[in-house]
Amino acid sequence: MNIVLIGFMGSGKSTVAKHMSQKLQLEWVEMDALVLHRTNTRSMHEVFAKGGELLLRESEIAIAKEIAGHPNAVISTGGGVVHNRIILDYFKKAGASVIFLHAQFATIAQRIGSDPSRPLFQDLPTAQKLYEFRLPLYFTYADKVIDVDTKSPDLIAQTIQEFHGL
Ligand code: S3P
Repeated sequence: MNIVLIGFMGSGKSTVAKHMSQKLQLEWVEMDALVLHRTNTRSMHEVFAKGGELLLRESEIAIAKEIAGHPNAVISTGGGVVHNRIILDYFKKAGASVIFLHAQFATIAQRIGSDPSRPLFQDLPTAQKLYEFRLPLYFTYADKVIDVDTKSPDLIAQTIQEFHGL
């Protein structure tokens, strides 16, 4: 089975996915890295410079289609995959379990507020609007929601494991 982690930027998807893959000997698939590979770029800023957000979203759809059927993988998605329902449809059709790592915006702002590497997190008010727009989408697609603000990656991984009886 596949475990797909969704959530806003800075919610810990990659950290938790890496941790889980080591602990449970699952393949770790990082969608952002595959986007860079597919678009022949080295950063999200380069992706945006090359083809705008459209290139990112089209790449994510193509990648989801390719990786949805990987057996025994933990997939860390980019924070914006919920904009395209088709991505979640690919994962769910393949039997994946979708886990929403739910962090409060204040937690996220504290973690990545000064990280310039994310094109869609350039200033707090705009990022907060995006967060509020997406929040109901994350809840809609989640098979399980985990409040992560005060939890370590290890505890989050353990909660996901218990949910799946692993
Ligand atoms: C994005 C999140 C990023 C990356 C891109 C766009 C978003 O991934 O895909 O910069 O739209 O939220 P992380 O959630 O891993 O930071």
